[in-house]
Amino acid sequence: MVKVDAVSSANLSPVYQIVIENKNHIQVFLTNFGARIIQFIVPDKEGAFENISLGFDTIDEYMEKDLYFGTTVGRVAGRIGRSRFSIDDKEVQLMPNAGENFLHGGTPGFESRLWDFQVNKENEVTFTYLSPDGENGFPGNLLAKVMYVLDDKDTLHIKYIATTDQPTLYNPTNHIYFALSGDFSQSTDDHVLTIDADFVAEVDDEKIPTGRFLSVEKTPFDFRKGQLLSDAFSESIWKGNTPKEFDDPFLLNSSHSAQLFHPQSGRKISMYTTSSSVVVYTATHAEGLSAQGKPCGECAGITLEAQELPDAIHHDDFGSIILRPEKPFSATTSYHFSLE
Ligand code: BGC
Repeated sequence: MVKVDAVSSANLSPVYQIVIENKNHIQVFLTNFGARIIQFIVPDKEGAFENISLGFDTIDEYMEKDLYFGTTVGRVAGRIGRSRFSIDDKEVQLMPNAGENFLHGGTPGFESRLWDFQVNKENEVTFTYLSPDGENGFPGNLLAKVMYVLDDKDTLHIKYIATTDQPTLYNPTNHIYFALSGDFSQSTDDHVLTIDADFVAEVDDEKIPTGRFLSVEKTPFDFRKGQLLSDAFSESIWKGNTPKEFDDPFLLNSSHSAQLFHPQSGRKISMYTTSSSVVVYTATHAEGLSAQGKPCGECAGITLEAQELPDAIHHDDFGSIILRPEKPFSATTSYHFSLE
């Protein structure tokens, strides 16, 4: 079932909320403001339905306090070191928005755009945004599409497609923060995180990858067999991380998967992606923000941002994020919900 409603905003129009519900009554609430997820409502093991995606009650709050909650991030997720790059010997200078670096496609990025959308089927919506040549400094008219599909097996699929008329960069992600307890005032440090990754990309003090891959073996970054976040935090000695923060790119092994499990509620999210990495970010900066009537706790949510590695344009062995007119972009990330 799909339901579309106009929603009010003091600053923007037209803003819509699109709700997809599957046969198990799982619901995903989406909006064309940022092509974003605003709620993901699932049951716990007692059958109680709650929202597990960090979000606000109103669109205006997303504009005022946003930490990229649930949004599509683009054109390029993560940081571009020193806000510059070159393609085919053409130098591109971007406007820094994170110290001297360039974060999440610049300001304003995809998260602040009003996207067009089309309901394709009862369980499928496609958002479309034409990012004009030169927007935030990027070359090329980029036609970006993000399709959300909620199937009856309780998987939310996010499919990215894009074309450009000039060589440009493209590395989108979704920035949903999961809080599987359904209570944003609690810390997510009671969640068990599993990541099929033998290596993490080392980052410097400004969160720019150094280019080195470090083995996770015997480090707090070894999530291969599942690790309670509070245990990982207590051992975290990672350069650049505050004591209770992960903000790190993991290079995925061949299963391209990660899971987040909350033993108390039984809720589990399993992520599968065609992308080569996942950036795990604990919502450290959300602490104290009021979201859906409650102040967010320390580490109120965790993102599993599937993407190519951040700053890939500066590291040959990170894989290419250059999009060219002759080859459209395509990537898919799925979040499967289950109870255990
Ligand atoms: C980045 C963080 C950044 C956050 C903003 C994350 O994806 O990795 O460094 O502070 O987004 O919400």
